[in-house]
Amino acid sequence: MHLSVTSTLALLGMLSLLVVGTNAALKGVFAHYLVGSMGGADEAVKDVQDAQKMSLDAFALNVQDPSASWATNAIQLLFTAAEANNFKLFFSFDMSVIDQPSTFLPLFNQYQNNPAYYRHNNRPFVSTFNGGAKSFGASSPNAGWQAQFKDILSSQGIDPFFVPDFDDYGGATYDANFFKNYPVVDGVMSWESAWPEVSDGLVNVSSSKDQTALTNARAAGKLYMMPLSSVQFKHIDGGQNWYRIGELNLPLRIAQVLALQPDFVEIITWNDSGESHYIGNCWPEAIAGVPAIQAYSNGYDHTHWQDVLAPFIVAYKNGATSLSSVTPFGAFAGAFWYRPLLKAASCSGDGLGKPSGWQNAQDLINIAMLLPSTSSGVTLRVTSGGAVVATLATKPGLNFASVPIRTGSQRVELVAANGSIMGAGSSTQDVVSDTSGVCNFNYQVVHIA
Ligand SMILES: *[C@@H]1O[C@H](CO)[C@@H](O)[C@H](O)[C@H]1NC(C)=O
Ligand SMILES: *[C@@H]1O[C@H](CO)[C@@H](O)[C@H](O)[C@H]1NC(C)=O
Ligand SMILES: *[C@@H]1O[C@H](CO)[C@@H](O)[C@H](O)[C@H]1NC(C)=O
Repeated sequence: MHLSVTSTLALLGMLSLLVVGTNAALKGVFAHYLVGSMGGADEAVKDVQDAQKMSLDAFALNVQDPSASWATNAIQLLFTAAEANNFKLFFSFDMSVIDQPSTFLPLFNQYQNNPAYYRHNNRPFVSTFNGGAKSFGASSPNAGWQAQFKDILSSQGIDPFFVPDFDDYGGATYDANFFKNYPVVDGVMSWESAWPEVSDGLVNVSSSKDQTALTNARAAGKLYMMPLSSVQFKHIDGGQNWYRIGELNLPLRIAQVLALQPDFVEIITWNDSGESHYIGNCWPEAIAGVPAIQAYSNGYDHTHWQDVLAPFIVAYKNGATSLSSVTPFGAFAGAFWYRPLLKAASCSGDGLGKPSGWQNAQDLINIAMLLPSTSSGVTLRVTSGGAVVATLATKPGLNFASVPIRTGSQRVELVAANGSIMGAGSSTQDVVSDTSGVCNFNYQVVHIA
């Protein structure tokens, strides 16, 4: 092919326009990643590669102490791993801990131009956990963020794309007033809408707050990042001991994301073992200093939630709006999850006692099973405590269901129309009705393979 210099340049110009256009249309899916001390480069590489395998676009790096060497070392290892693997990272500054933007700006400046830093419309993406009520000495939070974050960067020629979680701003939800009062944001995220509150009682997760936020964000020309999570169980001390509904929260939320079509999705979380909603590895040294967290997360692997999430991420990016379009990469993909301790347990041996919200838990085997569009006549056979307790019909796409659980072992089998067993998963930890040890409401996640 012969192209003159001018037409080559013109073509390159068109291509770059196309690239920018495509990026703007991309729906990013991220996972919240708590930065702590890291054992070595191999852990960073494994996390990055696992995330990439499930089609995540970036980790949202939660940073609580931007100058501590354990944090800067881990961040360095993660950027090196991301750059080598063509993965992306951005900062989510934890404003429940960080006092003001000047505390994190040196770290942001150091990395915002890194090839592995995630950009939206060619602007470095920045998020937060909270910070919507902090004014940093200015007349309002908006004025504080404008002066101490955006204006300072702007004077250095840096234009961050700012999508904070400002759940704490003081209003009930992201209403039209919020966007009038916070022009400093380019979009918003909610953290809290990922699960019902403890005080909501036994209800399914609602997407009404997300719907409101999305509608008002769009009206203001801004974007919305929707949170997606499995459960929130925290059992650390007297002030941090609660259970926010798990059970079917994850597939219900997946359906809500597909129905609402937000601009971005943030999975909560990759590795927050303290809140039990991790889907990635929990490296042993990361929580070595917190025996309370080890006691309810060691041996509770959640990585098979990735098998359910990966096809969802691809379907969402392709514009799927319902679960029937979430099909597996192979013949099937799925997992089941359960709490090995029944909710009525006395937990008399645990000084922290039962988590608040324990009444909202349900004793269930929860299943998500993805089947191809050609699937027909396939059933799920559920065995609990030695008895077959359910045989469930399935459809193509993402099926989910829950069945009352019994004490003892658990097994879920995928049975073809002709009766052959296509796949199965078995519990490795029995369900018990009480314990003299930790009052653990964390989930075991079992691969159906
Ligand atoms: C998440 O992983 C990182 C890297 O291993 C670690 O520093 C951090 O402590 C982990 N967070 C938790 C809560 O385990
Ligand atoms: C939650 O949703 C599931 C699945 O749609 C349904 O079976 C269940 O009854 C709902 N639970 C409540 C409390 O509404
Ligand atoms: C039964 O169906 C499964 C799944 O469609 C298929 O792989 C298998 O070959 C069939 N077995 C028999 C004996 O027809």
